[in-house]
Amino acid sequence: MDKRKNLRGTFLVLFIITFIFIFIFLTNVRTPRILNLIPQPHGPEKLDLPEVSDQTITPLVNTKHLLVSAFMDQRLTGFDIRIIGIFRRDSIQSLYCIFLCQSSTLSSTTPANILQHADNFGFPFTATDVMCQIPQSCDATHVTLLTQPDHVKDLKQKWLPIRNKVALKKENEFEFDFTVCVSTLFGGYNNVLQFAQTLEMYRLLGVDRVVIYNTSCGPELNRLLHSYSQEGFVEMVPWPIDKHLKPSWRWNPTEHGGDLHYFGQLTTLNECIYRSMERSRYVLLNDIDEIIMPYQHDSLTSLMDTLQPQHPNTGVFLIENHIFPKKHFEPSQRFHLPQWSGVPGINILEHVYREEPDRSRYHPYKMIVQPRMVEQTSVHEMLRNFGERFKVPPEVCRIIHVRVPLQGSLTLEQLKVDKRLWDFHERMIPNVDNVLRKVGLLSSDQQK
Ligand SMILES: *[C@@H]1O[C@H](CO)[C@@H](O)[C@H](O)[C@H]1NC(C)=O
Repeated sequence: MDKRKNLRGTFLVLFIITFIFIFIFLTNVRTPRILNLIPQPHGPEKLDLPEVSDQTITPLVNTKHLLVSAFMDQRLTGFDIRIIGIFRRDSIQSLYCIFLCQSSTLSSTTPANILQHADNFGFPFTATDVMCQIPQSCDATHVTLLTQPDHVKDLKQKWLPIRNKVALKKENEFEFDFTVCVSTLFGGYNNVLQFAQTLEMYRLLGVDRVVIYNTSCGPELNRLLHSYSQEGFVEMVPWPIDKHLKPSWRWNPTEHGGDLHYFGQLTTLNECIYRSMERSRYVLLNDIDEIIMPYQHDSLTSLMDTLQPQHPNTGVFLIENHIFPKKHFEPSQRFHLPQWSGVPGINILEHVYREEPDRSRYHPYKMIVQPRMVEQTSVHEMLRNFGERFKVPPEVCRIIHVRVPLQGSLTLEQLKVDKRLWDFHERMIPNVDNVLRKVGLLSSDQQK
């Protein structure tokens, strides 16, 4: 009996000792750290790291420059990251990249290569790319810039998330076939009818997404755009450039003053190309008063399915601009519709007279591009791209651009009648009516 008691006692003691060991072990295991932004790269002292930027435009502290977005881009040898920004041309200085790695540690710094875009139009600020290499051991999730390579301890610059980290998709895996990039909306722009008609035309032509950079717009257009972005067809990107700089309303700094060409149009177009690179087969770079219109195909899809195999190495398709002066109205008034009478803006169906471009002078193009073949874009041409460029003949595709005349002296007889838009009226008009009704702008609604 005593022997058994002793045995039981021994088991009890063993049990208690084991329990104590397990307890000590458990309390010593550190809870795993999820990106807590307070890593300790240099020993026990804690670094108070800045936050991740939640703005589209992030000032680079202690400089005059602005940062916009960071993208993974390994197309140029020796570089991994492209940060798109707006830099003051007379204050370019040495910069260093630092990365936040997946293991929530800081990387070492690497020197940055600063590439100003050539098309600054004489303004003090210009679209700029900052290129960097990621140090070998770091699986980077965020990046930011330092003005001194060793000033890690007083890091104040907000982090930019690194986008486009997923591998390049195969040709048939894109989420979208066509994305339209509309550069900055500003002032009280309120051309609602032309905007709605153009967006609905794009939908009919096969566009999946329209990205719009918004500094400000008029009240009715704001309602329309909120409705489109809720539905998902339009992606609104806040663009508060006027909070940081004095943007120019035009393109000439000596005449119009200001810090930056057209509210940063060039930066937004480039940002949009990189934003679309991993998700869209093609990107259309045009303004919202312009429609890139196929004349021999019924959609952009069938147009590009024809053009691309004919030009397999081409990533940039240039489309000629054609102006339809808004002062000349089609006389039958067939599309002067009563339900649109209270909608501000131009009715593009009423303008069917087209200027023949004066090809002896400079004539602007807009572009359909494969974003993966673009490095830097301007408005009417590429600054840097891979592959070839092709000027699409105007009888195949041209831009319908309803606006003030370019050659104002031309009489009606000197203009060409072009009713290509009318081919789409049966589907376009009900779609425009639907969206205007949704936001309470259709005239029959207002009478109720
Ligand atoms: C456009 O920007 C203005 C100014 O920030 C804002 O008030 C408005 O809601 C924005 N509109 C849309 C549709 O995002």
